[in-house]
Amino acid sequence: MKYSGNQEYSPKRYDIVAQLLHWSMALILVYLIFFSHFEDLADEVMISSIKLHSGLGLLIIFLAALRWYWRKTHGVASAWQGVYPIQ
Ligand code: HEM
Repeated sequence: MKYSGNQEYSPKRYDIVAQLLHWSMALILVYLIFFSHFEDLADEVMISSIKLHSGLGLLIIFLAALRWYWRKTHGVASAWQGVYPIQ
């Protein structure tokens, strides 16, 4: 469905791009948080680990901007769709 910035448009569920953005960011974030202590590593491993950490850190900023744009242009799935009134 074409969407042109209408905030009221709410798809049934997130599309594949939104899902990929969500889960790739989640995985990268978990990696960045858990593999962020470089002090006990051998010098060469430390340098490549810091490079990887920094690269992924910059990538996640780019992905966050993309994700913001995607939400703006493709809508946000309603949290209430598919939920019975009694719930
Ligand atoms: C969302 C993105 C990021 C997350 C969640 C993240 C997370 C972390 C965490 C939890 C630490 C350990 C801090 C500590 O307890 O000492 C750390 C350290 C570090 N991060 Fe990141 N980081 C991110 C992005 C970046 C970026 C973009 C860069 C560089 C361009 C970077 C460079 C470093 C460096 C050099 C350290 C080591 C600092 C030290 O131990 O002296 N990080 N990061």
